[in-house]
Amino acid sequence: MELTSEELDMLNGKYGKAAKKSMEILTTLGEIFDAECMVDVVGVQIAGVSYDNLGEAGLEFLSEMAEDGKVRVLTTLNPAGMDRENWKTLGIDKEFVKNQNRAIDAFAKMGIITTCSCTPYLIGNTPHFGQHLAWAESSAVCYANSVIGAQTNREGGPSALASAITGKTPKYGYHLNKNRHGEVLFEVTTEIKGTHEFGVLGKIIGDKLVELGKKIPFITGILRATVEELKSFCASVATYGGTALFHMEGITPEYNKYHKPSDMVINIDDELLKQARKELIDDDFAIDFVSIGCPHASIHEIERIANLLKGKKVTKEFWITTARPTKRISDEAGYSKIIEKAGAKFAADTCCVVAPIKGRFKGIMVDSAKACYYGRAKNQFKVKIGSIEECIKEATE
Ligand code: F3S
Repeated sequence: MELTSEELDMLNGKYGKAAKKSMEILTTLGEIFDAECMVDVVGVQIAGVSYDNLGEAGLEFLSEMAEDGKVRVLTTLNPAGMDRENWKTLGIDKEFVKNQNRAIDAFAKMGIITTCSCTPYLIGNTPHFGQHLAWAESSAVCYANSVIGAQTNREGGPSALASAITGKTPKYGYHLNKNRHGEVLFEVTTEIKGTHEFGVLGKIIGDKLVELGKKIPFITGILRATVEELKSFCASVATYGGTALFHMEGITPEYNKYHKPSDMVINIDDELLKQARKELIDDDFAIDFVSIGCPHASIHEIERIANLLKGKKVTKEFWITTARPTKRISDEAGYSKIIEKAGAKFAADTCCVVAPIKGRFKGIMVDSAKACYYGRAKNQFKVKIGSIEECIKEATE
């Protein structure tokens, strides 16, 4: 790889131990993927923050980097394993809290903003079209590349941290325009409405891409989509298809920059949508947990939940997972009061997948296809997908 004199100085230890280690990680990655050079990044999102994922080995790596490492660009964190203020109400174990805080303290020491959210683009780590990033949360990576038109690969925890410390990432993959073309055309011929249906659509497209061995879908037939619907779609297509970029005709900014693929065309009709939705509903089980906010709920979604919960009482555990700054806006707007009066709980900084809740519940209802996937795979819950209205109905019945 061709390195600038500053990058070479980092590699040779002139900027300290953490910068040296970071440049070693990035040049190794660059060589594996045949990158010719590095590119400057304007922002970083770090995943693998929960102590559940990190363990002691991950913590040791973080502590070493925090000895003299300082981030050079705006860097935020993915959800942690607990609500940092409200962990007791959510039943999180004290020992886990201690370890999780050790990890967050190490991140903070390096100058990372410890917001702990998978929707950095909603709370200030917001890039614009064409900017280069090093993001490591699959749903956010998909959102940044597709909906915003920024450019990032799907980083792992260590490579994202290395980019934060150096402000660089190797220039390969989605940083190059030649790798951003749609590969398969999906023609949607039915109306897709609500976060749950956009999640189901993501599952259909993701599953098909895996079957075809392709990564970038080009989607037509979607007439309108809200930010919340797109974030749900991103989470789902990234989970089921490993997709980090899609184009949606009339919706995403790069859809007419590249040619529309025509050699592989898949039709998605109402029948297919119904069938895929059924696959996200397990048979015969009792729901004892409802969770909304995967990816983290926007203030718009929280307002909607508050309106639906007004004057009602929840009858089962009900979490709204969101970013701490969004929770604060909700407090100020009076939504939190309504939601908490109904008996629902905020789980800020965390979510129903990364919190250590395996074994605590049997069946979960969500509006997110991604939460269905990990609810089954990680927590061994039975799952049911539904609209936000259906989730609230279930929680208050
Ligand atoms: Fe975010 Fe957790 Fe879902 S990290 S995308 S809320 S699984």
